[in-house]
Amino acid sequence: MLSIDVVTLFPEFFKSPLGESLLKKAQDRGLVKVRVHDLRDWTHDRHKTADDKPFGGGAGMVMKPEPIFECVEAVAPKGFVVLLDPQGEPMSQKLARKLAKKKHLVLIAGHYEGVDQRVKDHLVDQQISVGDFITMGGEAPALCVIEAVARLVPGVIGNEESLARESFECGMLEHPQYTRPREYRGWKVPNVLVSGHHKEVEAWRKKEAEKVTKERRPDLLTSSRRKSWAK
Ligand SMILES: C[S@@+](CC[C@H](N)C(=O)[O-])C[C@H]1O[C@@H](n2cnc3c(N)ncnc32)[C@H](O)[C@@H]1O
Repeated sequence: MLSIDVVTLFPEFFKSPLGESLLKKAQDRGLVKVRVHDLRDWTHDRHKTADDKPFGGGAGMVMKPEPIFECVEAVAPKGFVVLLDPQGEPMSQKLARKLAKKKHLVLIAGHYEGVDQRVKDHLVDQQISVGDFITMGGEAPALCVIEAVARLVPGVIGNEESLARESFECGMLEHPQYTRPREYRGWKVPNVLVSGHHKEVEAWRKKEAEKVTKERRPDLLTSSRRKSWAK
């Protein structure tokens, strides 16, 4: 089982995503356990202050270190601590696989101008960015990490074979997918997919996966991480 503790100023943000679909099922089946902690419960003044002005001046507020340290140390002293941060390692399928092997993850969602540097220097094991853009807070990035990691926990996704074929897993983007109806508004499903020839279907999918990867993400094809598509 994978335990995930989320540390946030906005715990309500996680209610619906964690209460729906596969993430809900994964928790109901005891495969993943997610606890969401309100940082304000770890503040010490009656206004529940979790942020303050930056030393040296400047715009915005910075998240104070004390509530973050105290919360993480109390709820997950042995957890692998991740801070969602634009300065972090770019999120990737490889990183998701690494995190899925951990027993206990802690995800800290920043807000405002971010967190006090001492949190990054002395509490956090890894900073992760979800891309070269800035979101309003770390909640949506934390959810991306939860989604990517939870589905790699054995048993969470029904069809494990589909995991191996997905974009990024085999060093390529995925081939096109079709479902019924066989013809829609005059657009037909490629004949090979309804031919019943398993080998031809496989060959078509491989060719299409290579084509789309070449067009959209040629960097993946030259990557040393590329694995055999057929595996
Ligand atoms: C408005 S952002 C702060 C941005 C910060 N002032 C900077 O320039 O790097 C507030 C919080 O959102 C989260 N965040 C924003 N963009 C992110 C990204 N690309 N990846 C991960 N977290 C992000 C982080 O937790 C961050 O502390």
